[in-house]
Amino acid sequence: LRGTVIAVDGPAAAGKGTLARRLAAELGLPYLDTGLLYRATGRRVLDAGADPRDAGAAEGAARSLSPTDLARPDLRGPEADRAASAVAAIPGVRAALLDWQRDFGRTHGAVLDGRDIGTVVFPDAPVKLFVTASPEARAHRRWLELLDRGVATEEATVLKELQARDAQDAGRDVAPLKPANDALTLDTTALDAEAAFRAARALVRQRL
Ligand code: C5P
Repeated sequence: LRGTVIAVDGPAAAGKGTLARRLAAELGLPYLDTGLLYRATGRRVLDAGADPRDAGAAEGAARSLSPTDLARPDLRGPEADRAASAVAAIPGVRAALLDWQRDFGRTHGAVLDGRDIGTVVFPDAPVKLFVTASPEARAHRRWLELLDRGVATEEATVLKELQARDAQDAGRDVAPLKPANDALTLDTTALDAEAAFRAARALVRQRL
């Protein structure tokens, strides 16, 4: 399996991260959460006092990302979600992060999760999963996650923010969120993490 790239794409809070991390461990491949690159870029723009929609500021931040930026403790939460999605719509930002992601996967193979891994970053990946779930199921999971981290919020607010981010990610001109033509779709609405992992593993075996 060395050298194999597995693309895991889908909307926010569909369970891609947990799934991709477990698949990587199972297959002995490195794992990359590509959303972190956009989150860290968004955070750097906010730190500089700029607007995440400012193309110049965002591209500059993306081009000078360092490993410490990816390890920041404040990359999760509604503010980082919004900033990530805003910078992710800027073509210069995506171009700056593209080689980084390709280099990561090309060297030893990898499982990467994101929005455009199967469509843009690794269009030739032998395995592409599109992981999805109903907006309500995704909002419920994200709400529980936030509660767990001590962030008290309304489930309805989480649902609204999630749908706004999906609409922005699917509606942008560059690398919009959509399944690759050859992606296998996995709907996790009725599955817990364990069942989702088993289903994903079966799909991966079918392709490798
Ligand atoms: O996956 P995560 O929710 O951490 O991603 C945060 C944001 O980064 C997404 O809403 C999306 O706008 C952007 N993103 C992207 N392409 C990727 C990964 C994330 O546009 N491959």
